[in-house]
Amino acid sequence: MSKFTPDSKLDLLFSTDLIPSELKAQLHPDVHIRPLSSTDYHRGHLSVLSVLTVVNDPGESAWGARFDAMRSANGTYYSIVVIDKPTDTVVGVGSVFIERKFLRGLGSVGHIEDIAVDKNQQGKKLGLKIIQCLTEISEKELGCYKTILNCSDANIPFYEKCGYQKKENEMAKYA
Ligand code: ACO
Repeated sequence: MSKFTPDSKLDLLFSTDLIPSELKAQLHPDVHIRPLSSTDYHRGHLSVLSVLTVVNDPGESAWGARFDAMRSANGTYYSIVVIDKPTDTVVGVGSVFIERKFLRGLGSVGHIEDIAVDKNQQGKKLGLKIIQCLTEISEKELGCYKTILNCSDANIPFYEKCGYQKKENEMAKYA
């Protein structure tokens, strides 16, 4: 794929109306931010995720089945991508998933996960825009009472620039 594909021609994970228009307007004209599309496997989605951690390409069909499963969990998964328009490729990714609770008057919490920016595009505020976008989706659009994430010590200054503060500790157990 070499030509930019507009949102209207794509099969998207969620409505593009949830992407704040003022945030889109602040982007460089060569980049676009939108929900993940069912064809982003071909636009380098996994390649950008591999900047973050081990990916292990499952193949297009399994990738598509995961996309469908996320979309079927209506109102839960919100994955976004930043597209480099001249090449129609993914250069940034990020997700927020919504946890529905019984406490706080049946409140919801947004969990930010899997943020990555292509190495050649880092330092251009794309990571900041991804976090701003996901936080707005979580809090303004979906009414979550808080948005949280886990990160390495090295990334704390980045998240502080995005308006987040260190709070409590992370516990983990890998299977
Ligand atoms: N340490 C200190 N400051 C940082 C760092 C860092 N590691 N990264 C970014 N910043 C600062 C920038 O200098 C900038 O500051 P400024 O506004 O004063 O100029 C501000 O944070 C915004 O930076 P961006 O340009 O938006 O950052 P970028 O687009 O490069 O994205 C990211 C940052 C996502 C961490 C990117 O470097 C990346 O993909 N890293 C590898 C994968 C990774 O670690 N992802 C995060 C995992 S945690 C999670 O997924 C919840």
